Amino acid sequence: MSTSVAVLMGGWSSEREVSLVSGGAIVDALANTEFDVRAIDVQRDVAGLVGKLTPAPDVVLNALHGRYGEDGCIQGVLECLGLKYTHSGVMASALAMDKPMAKRLFESVGIPCAPHEIATRADFKAGSVMDKPFVIKPMNEGSSVGVTVVLDDSHLPSLDDGSWTFGDTVMVEKYIPGRELTVAVMGDRALGVTEIKPVSGFYDYTAKYTDGKAEHLIPAPVPEEIYTAAMDYAVRAHNTLGCRGVSRADFRYDDSQNDPGDLILLEVNTQPGMTPLSLVPEQAAHAGINFSDLVRWMVENASCDG
Ligand SMILES: Nc1ncnc2c1ncn2[C@@H]1O[C@H](COP(=O)(O)OP(=O)(O)O)[C@@H](O)[C@H]1O
Ligand SMILES: [Mg+2]
Repeated sequence: MSTSVAVLMGGWSSEREVSLVSGGAIVDALANTEFDVRAIDVQRDVAGLVGKLTPAPDVVLNALHGRYGEDGCIQGVLECLGLKYTHSGVMASALAMDKPMAKRLFESVGIPCAPHEIATRADFKAGSVMDKPFVIKPMNEGSSVGVTVVLDDSHLPSLDDGSWTFGDTVMVEKYIPGRELTVAVMGDRALGVTEIKPVSGFYDYTAKYTDGKAEHLIPAPVPEEIYTAAMDYAVRAHNTLGCRGVSRADFRYDDSQNDPGDLILLEVNTQPGMTPLSLVPEQAAHAGINFSDLVRWMVENASCDG
């Protein structure tokens, strides 16, 4: 009998559209194979989701991104149902989504992270946050939505009631100048290091996902020791959070101060993009693993803690 795979996609986070593209690409890769695949557009309706997961598939391929799909919530539902699913489990997903918590763990195993503080709108009003330049990050969203780089006062978001959309508390992180690197991890192995060169300015949501404006250089043209360190940190970060399956670590690389420069881990994404433009499929291809083989590997490595 063929293995049945349910692909979860969409969801109701700010990354719904990206997830639909990731999920669609995955469904296409599984079509006309020995797998029996069905797509599920996940809505904010847990009972409905349970219904769509009946009869139970052999494996759930989680192609959701962002809140609820990437933070342990959906993973918890799948654990309750006793279904095998791809990517990280409940704890690793929740830890990775909580950036301050994840950074504590990264630092505990010797991975350099950017200094940060937790601040409220009142702290901004009182001017008692760290010196610029800094980056304001919502506590748990994802995908650059809401990440604001403040190089000078003109970039400061309005503090007026109503236009402050970050929530009660934010993370204020020291701005790390320099370059952007990312490393995909597949199981226990890092696939490679990509440098992402934005065509202009901040590497934003648009450049990242839609118009393909950022240039991807793989292998990243960085010194050998930086390449090796990025691969090592990515695997160490994946293991420290207890991630499973595929994850992707985002770095800043500042080569302006010293040689070979400073490598700083920003975050681990436990549900990285799987669109045709995405970084993980691109790194897999560079490592000799085509998209179909990557998806197949995900299905074969799915698990459930319960
Ligand atoms: N401390 C920082 N210094 C410089 N740039 C940053 C910093 N933090 C984030 N950025 C920029 O913002 C992007 C998104 O930040 P990241 O922490 O990866 O959050 P997410 O991808 O979840 O939105 C990064 O890829 C980087 O371009
Ligand atoms: Mg990121």
